[in-house]
Amino acid sequence: MIHQLVARKEKLRLIEENLTKRIDTLLIGPIGTGKSHLLAQVDAEHVLKVQTLSPIKEALINIAEELHKHGKLYPHIEDFEKIKKRHGRETIQAWTDMVLDSVQKNELVLIVDDLSYMTPSVGRLIDKLSHKFTIIAALQEIKKTYEKHFWKFDRIEIENLSTPEAKQLIRQCAAGADIEDYHMTETYILQQSAGNPRAIIEIVEKLRKEPAVTRSAVRHVSHTGARNQIDLTVVVVFLLLAVVAARFFMRGIGSMEGYVLAGIGSAILVGIRFFMYRFKR
Ligand SMILES: Nc1ncnc2c1ncn2[C@@H]1O[C@H](COP(=O)(O)OP(=O)(O)OP(=O)(O)O)[C@@H](O)[C@H]1O
Ligand SMILES: [Mg+2]
Repeated sequence: MIHQLVARKEKLRLIEENLTKRIDTLLIGPIGTGKSHLLAQVDAEHVLKVQTLSPIKEALINIAEELHKHGKLYPHIEDFEKIKKRHGRETIQAWTDMVLDSVQKNELVLIVDDLSYMTPSVGRLIDKLSHKFTIIAALQEIKKTYEKHFWKFDRIEIENLSTPEAKQLIRQCAAGADIEDYHMTETYILQQSAGNPRAIIEIVEKLRKEPAVTRSAVRHVSHTGARNQIDLTVVVVFLLLAVVAARFFMRGIGSMEGYVLAGIGSAILVGIRFFMYRFKR
């Protein structure tokens, strides 16, 4: 199913403005907020699109193929498969040179749909590519170690949809479905998805699989992905603080049992905290 662009006009305008001004740009936002969806709307003649930049060699070959499609790849050979065969065994460096030598500075825009998987060599590739291309890329977050590759990038945050926008998307996805109580269904989906487009689409698709979208069917469909998870480690740390405080308190009022119990409690919590930390990795 193709979902039309709900809202986001302002973001799209910002992206296109940066694109014309040749400003490198990152779209940053959590899973499923619609970064790829937005990038798919960006359309201009001098734009190349690739999925990711890793693995690097594949990515470079994809960029070369895109350049070839635009008639920009040097050497000019009819058939890209021939180029691939001839240069297939060459190094990453050779492919990088081929790509970079084919274009003038700022001649083309390179859109990377998902840069979430970064490695140091992807970082170095970005540095090289950004000498020639204007880069527009999406990712969930920038890890501190990779900040240096993006220092000159403009950043556009892509958040979940606002309530009216989310309602519009729900209406679009639910079109034609037989829903017993639309208002209740909509409210439920809004709560469960927190306005995340991917979550909205997944919940509606689950509901559509029901023989009938009754109130009880709605109550039973759940979506765990988008729900804000309470960080249990935080809870444990707070409990621990409370127990330690209780220990002092018990000692203060001279209750030996209380003092010992609170001591045991804190030991158990420290243990839990330790194992939670362990299993997180
Ligand atoms: N504004 C929108 N209007 C309609 N559909 C949307 C909108 N934004 C996102 N969607 C839909 O929601 C789904 C998730 O969006 P998308 O894949 O673009 O998210 P993403 O931010 O790229 O996620 P990820 O971080 O996982 O790459 C897609 O099916 C997309 O078509
Ligand atoms: Mg994406």
